Amino acid sequence: MLADLAQINGAQLPRLARLAAGHDAAHTIPQDLEPSPVFPRAAVSKDIVERGRRLISGGKVAAFTVAGGQGTRLGYDGPKGCFRISPVRGKPLFQLFAESILATRRKFNADVPWYIMTSPANDAATRAFFDANGCFGLPREDVLFFQQGVMPAFDAAGKILLDQPHRVALSPDGHGGSLLALATTGMLADMARRGIVHISYFQVDNPLVYCVDPVFIGLHDARGSDMSSKTLPKADDLERVGNFAMTGGRVVVIEYSDLPEHLARARNPDGSRRFNAANIAIHVLSRAFVERLTADRASFALPWHMANKKVPFVDPDTRRRVEPEKPNAVKLESFVFDALPLAENPVVMETSRDEEFSPVKNATGVDSVESARRDMSHRAARWLSAAGFSIPMKAAEDPDGLFEVSPLVALEAEDLIARRMTVFPIARGESVYLE
Ligand code: UTP
Repeated sequence: MLADLAQINGAQLPRLARLAAGHDAAHTIPQDLEPSPVFPRAAVSKDIVERGRRLISGGKVAAFTVAGGQGTRLGYDGPKGCFRISPVRGKPLFQLFAESILATRRKFNADVPWYIMTSPANDAATRAFFDANGCFGLPREDVLFFQQGVMPAFDAAGKILLDQPHRVALSPDGHGGSLLALATTGMLADMARRGIVHISYFQVDNPLVYCVDPVFIGLHDARGSDMSSKTLPKADDLERVGNFAMTGGRVVVIEYSDLPEHLARARNPDGSRRFNAANIAIHVLSRAFVERLTADRASFALPWHMANKKVPFVDPDTRRRVEPEKPNAVKLESFVFDALPLAENPVVMETSRDEEFSPVKNATGVDSVESARRDMSHRAARWLSAAGFSIPMKAAEDPDGLFEVSPLVALEAEDLIARRMTVFPIARGESVYLE
């Protein structure tokens, strides 16, 4: 019990309990909300891309994955990163990222350390997975794990719930917790020692992510940005993604649940969607920015977001553990995008959904295992076609077969084209894996 309590920030507790009990308004939507300007990826100049390449080859860029989430929607028994996602080989998410980072190291002949944030619930299993797989070929000393902070679950009256008579009900404090955790665990100091300038941030659930993208890194650096973000046009007005917007001259992200419907449906004079820039949780953060934010560790906190969840708890009257059937608890989490309004010169770069975003949130349906496998296969088919292969098609944009290109072969279509491979015939319905 004492060890659990020691993990809670006591100074913040009264405010958190008031928040959980609904006595403090958590968020209000600003009245002056405007769409955020976006910079198209295709408009990034050659000089800027070269700048990004030089930063990577100079060893100034680290990869950073937040993997502390509980992945409840997927319902997989283990860290989400261990889930086998790739369409032909069934490679786990972590392996795809590891190979992508390994390919970046080879391409740029540089060290690219990889920081992975876990949580108390999945830290041991995550480390064991990497150990069992020899870090997928990456040097052991360049894969660094650290744990994020935790937050107690509250009941509707703002009281902390117990998970066991002697244990507090704790859960990870959100991906926003990554900034403080980088500081408190010594990872920022490790980055400084290695001469890291920029941190390429991505989530564990997006198998299409371009882990270390020279275009994005070059643009972030050239603009003197503290924190940059990738965006893409929303799939529909009410898509369940955050929206990039501006208020008081600052870039912010408004969650889909907080954006009033009339704004979500608003149109520009030309008929296009007014708030159209989706947050896909891919960022570059300057190390100096994270250092500045977390310099005063005791007072640094991003805003807390509340969610009503089912949390097993010990009934104080009966002292029995109850598995609730409906949400009984308030969980508080902070989100990394709430650091954006604190950033100077933030850049929001627009990229393509087909190329870079297909998150694995659910087992089936939207943003699922199925849709991510399909999108991986479709992207690989497009790359193969660009490299001269003839891809059998069922219909337009629906290739007939399963396709997978190892990140060790190509990080983008241009890599595959540059290989000038001998083209081989592909039969209908075939599974093609390129390594
Ligand atoms: P999600 O918001 O999708 O949450 O996390 P989740 O916990 O993975 O899944 P559900 O909601 O329980 O189904 C987005 C990303 O942020 C990380 C996750 O690991 C994922 O990469 N994350 C989330 C953390 O690292 N820590 C957290 O406390 C929460």
